[in-house]
Amino acid sequence: MNWLPELDLCDDLKQLRDFCLQCRRCSLRETCRGVVFGEGNPRALLMLVGEAPGADEDRLGRPFVGAAGQLLNKILDAAGFTREEVYITNVVKCRPPGNRLPKKEEAECCFPYLVRQIELIQPRLIVCLGSLATQYLVHQQAKITLVRGKVFRKGWAQIVPTFHPAALLRDASKKKLVWQDFKLIRELYARIKR
Ligand code: URA
Repeated sequence: MNWLPELDLCDDLKQLRDFCLQCRRCSLRETCRGVVFGEGNPRALLMLVGEAPGADEDRLGRPFVGAAGQLLNKILDAAGFTREEVYITNVVKCRPPGNRLPKKEEAECCFPYLVRQIELIQPRLIVCLGSLATQYLVHQQAKITLVRGKVFRKGWAQIVPTFHPAALLRDASKKKLVWQDFKLIRELYARIKR
C-alpha cells in the first residue's frame, strides 16, 4: 500500500478534504471534473463505502446521486436511515473515465484517504457497498457473494458487506438479499445507539 504519512496531520474532515482536493497521486484527476470526497454526518455511527464516483457524482461533486444513488436512498429510507445521519463515501474519490473499474494502483493511491476518514469519523458500523470496498476493508480476496450479510470486526467498528446498488439495477433478484442485509444493519445500529 502506498501510505501518506501527511494525512496524520489532518485533524478534521475539512483539512483532510482540502488535502484530498490537491491530490495528484494517480492520473484520474486529469480526466475527472473534481474530487468526490464524501458527505454526511462527521460523527456518523454508520458509514457507507462505495466504489468510485460515476458521471453524475463527478458532475455534482457528491457521492451516490445518480441511478445507483437513487436506489441507495430508497434502501436507506426503507431501513429507517436518513442520508444526513450517516456518512457516505467511496474507496476511490475521482471518477474513472467511462465508468470503468478503478485500477489497483488507483485504489491503492486513494485508500489512505478512506482510512483517515474512518479514523476521524470513528463510525461503529461500516457498510461496504460492493466488492471493491469489501476487498479493501475486509479482505483483499473476499468474494462479495460469500461474505455479504456477514459481520466482521475491526477495532471498534463492525463491518457488513452487501451488494453494490448498481448490481441490483442489473440483477433485481439481489434486492431480497440486500434487504436482508439492511435489516441486520438496522439491528446492529439499534444496539450501538442504545
Ligand atoms: N457508485 C459508487 O460506487 N459510488 C458512487 O458515488 C456512485 C456510484
